Amino acid sequence: MLNFAIRAAKDAGRLLRDRLGTRIEVSLKGAINLVTDVDLASERLIRDAIATHYPRHQVLAEEEGLHESASEYRWVVDPIDGTTNYAHGFPFFTVSIALELRGETILGVVYDPMRDELFAAERGCGSSLNNRPISVSSTGELSRSMLSTGFPYDIRTSKLTNLDHWSNFAMNARALRRTGAASLDMCYVACGRFDGFWELNLSPWDTAAGAIIIEEAGGLVSDFSGGAFSNYKPEVIASNGLIHSRMIEVIATAPKDD
Ligand code: IPD
Ligand code: CA
Ligand code: CA
Repeated sequence: MLNFAIRAAKDAGRLLRDRLGTRIEVSLKGAINLVTDVDLASERLIRDAIATHYPRHQVLAEEEGLHESASEYRWVVDPIDGTTNYAHGFPFFTVSIALELRGETILGVVYDPMRDELFAAERGCGSSLNNRPISVSSTGELSRSMLSTGFPYDIRTSKLTNLDHWSNFAMNARALRRTGAASLDMCYVACGRFDGFWELNLSPWDTAAGAIIIEEAGGLVSDFSGGAFSNYKPEVIASNGLIHSRMIEVIATAPKDD
């Protein structure tokens, strides 16, 4: 099933790369939340591949939502993670595919078609980047860390803007980045390019593959108070493990509804 997921992610990734720079239809799902015809085509390609190989499995993907069945297997798919980047021609986006068995993620694949980088993990077997084992960084201090995050699409109307966490981390870390693709942020933690990542309004398809890739690379993934992470919890702190408790402390300095 891991090989199937890799093939599907690469096929969809090729579609993303081929369509970039061509005429793309962009529409709005919310004030600043975009969807393109390529999101829909990528999701169709992946759903069709799953329906052919695993017709009984459930599929939860961003654009069409959950197709439920009695199966204990559920594929969790983001057909383009980084749609805003994609629509602007900014080459930082992925295809993200994870598989849950009875609610636990058992494998995950994130493919960056512009760099031809394939991150993959299977529970208990470690994580890899283009077939080479990867591990998290060894940075032990927040002050020497490079972190990444993102901002929610409802930033204009919600109290949860992430702006105070952003300024609190800016005062405590070495550098912050906002890349626009949560799955790739998480894979960059897994391979040591980032030391940590936090975000507060994510969906299962953003985090499911990235979380297992971090855990299998030796990192930690939790909610904002250090409790167990779930694909279905909107908030995530992910790190190399060494700076995790400091990240929880910094998060805790902001008022709860900010
Ligand atoms: C978004 C990206 C972004 C994150 C947003 C996500 P999308 O996913 O991962 O980095 O900040 O919260 O919704 O909409 O491009 O699939
Ligand atoms: Ca996403
Ligand atoms: Ca998406």
